[in-house]
Amino acid sequence: MYIKSIKLHNFRNYKKLSVSFSKKINIIYGRNAQGKTNLLESIYVLGFTKSHRSFIDNSLITDNEDYLTIEGVVNDKIDSKYNVYIDSKQKKLKCNNDFIKKISDYIALVNVIIFTPDDLEIVKGSPQIRRKYLNLELSQLYSNYYVILNEYNKILKMRNDYLKKLNKGISKDLNYLDIITGYLIDKLVNICKIRKKYIDKINEYCSKIYKDISDLDNFKVIYKPNIDLDYNDSNIKEVLKDEYHKKQNLDIKLCMTNFGPHKDDYEFYLENKNLKLYGSQGQQRLAVLAFKLSEIEIIKKYRESTPILLLDDIFSELDGVKKNNLLKYISKDIQTIITTTDLNNLDKKLTSKSKLFRIKDGNIKKIKEVTEDEQ
Ligand SMILES: Nc1ncnc2c1ncn2[C@@H]1O[C@H](COP(=O)(O)OP(=O)(O)O)[C@@H](O)[C@H]1O
Ligand SMILES: [Mg+2]
Repeated sequence: MYIKSIKLHNFRNYKKLSVSFSKKINIIYGRNAQGKTNLLESIYVLGFTKSHRSFIDNSLITDNEDYLTIEGVVNDKIDSKYNVYIDSKQKKLKCNNDFIKKISDYIALVNVIIFTPDDLEIVKGSPQIRRKYLNLELSQLYSNYYVILNEYNKILKMRNDYLKKLNKGISKDLNYLDIITGYLIDKLVNICKIRKKYIDKINEYCSKIYKDISDLDNFKVIYKPNIDLDYNDSNIKEVLKDEYHKKQNLDIKLCMTNFGPHKDDYEFYLENKNLKLYGSQGQQRLAVLAFKLSEIEIIKKYRESTPILLLDDIFSELDGVKKNNLLKYISKDIQTIITTTDLNNLDKKLTSKSKLFRIKDGNIKKIKEVTEDEQ
């Protein structure tokens, strides 16, 4: 799929903006703090309904304004129009002028993969950052995942609230705890299964990609589930009920559910070396690249369509060889939108076949168009 155009109103430093993209490579250049990341972020929000860099939707609205709108036309075999409206109270989503009530139905429609310098956090940061990232990726692949995850989180909250009541002696009914635990188990088995399958699929691609870009062997991603499940065991739910039962005194003591996919993690290994602990910054950066490029392969296969790629100022950090190796991967038939402060960071050949824009102070100017032949 590719994004044909986007219109912004009151989005960060854009009062009003209208841009048409090339379906191949687009390069946006400009000095710092001019709105390059904001523009990519708006495309991300069009796909995910929320930002990749801010938890607070309100910060997306231009200062001193009450609401924002994003309108994008995305071609996925046919053109569709998407609208996102956000104000301090609500968010409204539309596809082809029809309101979409459930985020889970919307989020799987437009697939976006973003690469940013902050991605390093996926390797180096807390398990919470990695889980958040994985949850978003799985939600854009399977709308069902988003639904199950939300249900799981609701039941988890209910269970934790009840554990508090048991702890304080406000409630005493342990059978009721078992009932909630049963609901929790129904959801968690599905979540863990989907996550495991996904990481398995990532591993079908990522080692080769890592090697292609860096010439280093044996890269892999390892899923570290908080509860190790034997999916061949037809009794899996009963086994889990026993486990939760055994640990319920600890849960009551601490007023929270101490086990489950809300504590899952995954890690990146090169030659059996945990990159979080022992990797150089370069190796860590490549780990995220290989991880995300593998996701593209999965989206291609599963959705029979390519995602829209957003590369936010990542070329200044890669050396020449790796830059070119990476470009071989991305510039084939995937729409790519690249930002940079300096065109010299990019290969001349790449620039010559790209649509070029310059951004200054929230104003965008088309510098060069590309014809079909040049692309
Ligand atoms: N809600 C907002 N309202 C108005 N301006 C904003 C808002 N959020 C961020 N900005 C402005 O956007 C600019 C940064 O844009 P950004 O896209 O991150 O720059 P860069 O071109 O370096 O990627 C800053 O000048 C910042 O003040
Ligand atoms: Mg930026």
